[in-house]
Amino acid sequence: MTDAYLNRRTFAIISHPDAGKTTLTEKLLLASGAIRLAGEVKAKGDRRRARSDWLAIEQKRGISVTTSAMTFEHDGAIFNLLDTPGHVDFSEDTYRTLTAVDSAIMVIDAAKGIETQTRKLFEVCRLRDIPIITYINKVDREGRDLFELLDEVADQLALDVCPRVWPLGTGGQFKGCYDLAHDRVLLPADGDVSGAFGKTIELDNPDDPRLDALIGADDIADAREAMELAREGYTPFDLKAFREGTLTPVYFGSALKEFTVAELLRDIGKFAPPPQPRKIGPQQAGAEQVSPDDDAVSGFVFKVQANMDPNHRDRIAFVRICSGRFKRGMKLKVTRTAKALAINAPIFFMAQDRQLAEEAVAGDIVGIPNHGALGVGDTLSERDGLQYTGLPDFAPEIIRRVRLDDPMKAKQMKRAMIALAEEGASQVFTPVLGADFYVGVVGALQLDVIEARLIAEYGVKATLEVCGYETVRWLGGDNEVDVQTFVTKNQGAVAHDRYGAPVYLARSQWEAGYAEDKNPGVQFLKTRERT
Ligand code: G4P
Repeated sequence: MTDAYLNRRTFAIISHPDAGKTTLTEKLLLASGAIRLAGEVKAKGDRRRARSDWLAIEQKRGISVTTSAMTFEHDGAIFNLLDTPGHVDFSEDTYRTLTAVDSAIMVIDAAKGIETQTRKLFEVCRLRDIPIITYINKVDREGRDLFELLDEVADQLALDVCPRVWPLGTGGQFKGCYDLAHDRVLLPADGDVSGAFGKTIELDNPDDPRLDALIGADDIADAREAMELAREGYTPFDLKAFREGTLTPVYFGSALKEFTVAELLRDIGKFAPPPQPRKIGPQQAGAEQVSPDDDAVSGFVFKVQANMDPNHRDRIAFVRICSGRFKRGMKLKVTRTAKALAINAPIFFMAQDRQLAEEAVAGDIVGIPNHGALGVGDTLSERDGLQYTGLPDFAPEIIRRVRLDDPMKAKQMKRAMIALAEEGASQVFTPVLGADFYVGVVGALQLDVIEARLIAEYGVKATLEVCGYETVRWLGGDNEVDVQTFVTKNQGAVAHDRYGAPVYLARSQWEAGYAEDKNPGVQFLKTRERT
């Protein structure tokens, strides 16, 4: 048994684009000492988002930030920060990433409040009761009323809120922040908020007369009244409620000016939960979950990234270790294929570089280079037949027929499409009749990415053409005869996914519903989870 995992904090930052996720990521790395250069991250536009927000940091700094995971140490804790692509079209990828974290930071723009993407990501966190820390960013700009923002989080997300840090003035009046939990004031080092990096001064309480002199504000009385209301008018901090996902501590701050970033980092270390037990499929008699201190090593692949280095055809599977003490060189069994895989070159993604992972425990993120042995959703374990659940495939909302420009390259194309599907970037369906195959995606942007990657990485050109189908339903049900009868009767509209599971190809959502009504003995499933 190992308890080394107890200091791991595996988390993600969720936000609407432009709220400040990239800036906060960089400032967290700075505050932890993982990177040392000061400066701002500048990169704009959709192209950046289509890959990752972190690419911007990588380009700016020339450091090896992967686009999916980053590990850093601070004050005795090991932080594993996972990237969640901000673009709405990549929600499946984001969903899967959120299955690999134990907590999340929700970044909200103080001028905008809760936006659509924030809410969607929050809902995913709520499904799994992931504890959320709220960071209300950009208080150095004119924004909305602070109490209105707090109430919006409380009302719209149905959470108890507990302000931990309060800004002293906002916008042009921003003077610094007051740490309500520790009674100290955070001020810019040189007294000018346009400069960065705060200094902290311990006080007795918000009434401490030194505060008047320190911030020299004319409206100090208003600030004191607001702080009192913030302290008294909201739910007191309660670790249990936070960890159960019903209370969110709130930090007002400015990522750009590095205000309250150190406090945020400190409190992730202090309050965010260590690795939690994980659910497994029903076939493991007797057990519903695996505890992080279970002796047998296990983990699951939540993401596969191909061709990270254009000079090598490498594929890296990102594995969240869930139990045991993993050691380099170990052989783990991939449940889906029942094949043992010797893991000789596992990688940790540190903020500055990649390192060989000699040992890893629950909560750690390990990159495993492979040539196709691992796909998204796979479980690796020392135990036979173990399968983690909760990483579903979603019914695509766009289906295209793959038409090859050069028919001689059919084999290469199929290989490329399956590789993309294993990354979780798209799904591939092979119809029962005919030689075509179809690709399914959730968002239109993914189609452009697939076409571009087929040429750039696999040297094959294809047209993804409209084919009349819009979505699929996985066919299931207790009565196999009913399913088989449906498949035989509807051969023209049945295909297999890459695991061989039958799907119904529907021309519209309506048609999918109609088929479901007419075939009560068959289940038409919008998501498929491997168990
Ligand atoms: P994202 O990853 O969530 O999409 O957001 P990102 O960090 O890229 O920030 C979006 C914009 O908001 C950037 O400005 C960034 O500088 C700015 N920003 C982030 N945090 C703060 C903050 O605390 N205060 C203020 N005032 N601005 C903040 P940009 O104009 O798009 O880019 P840039 O030219 O300023 O770099």
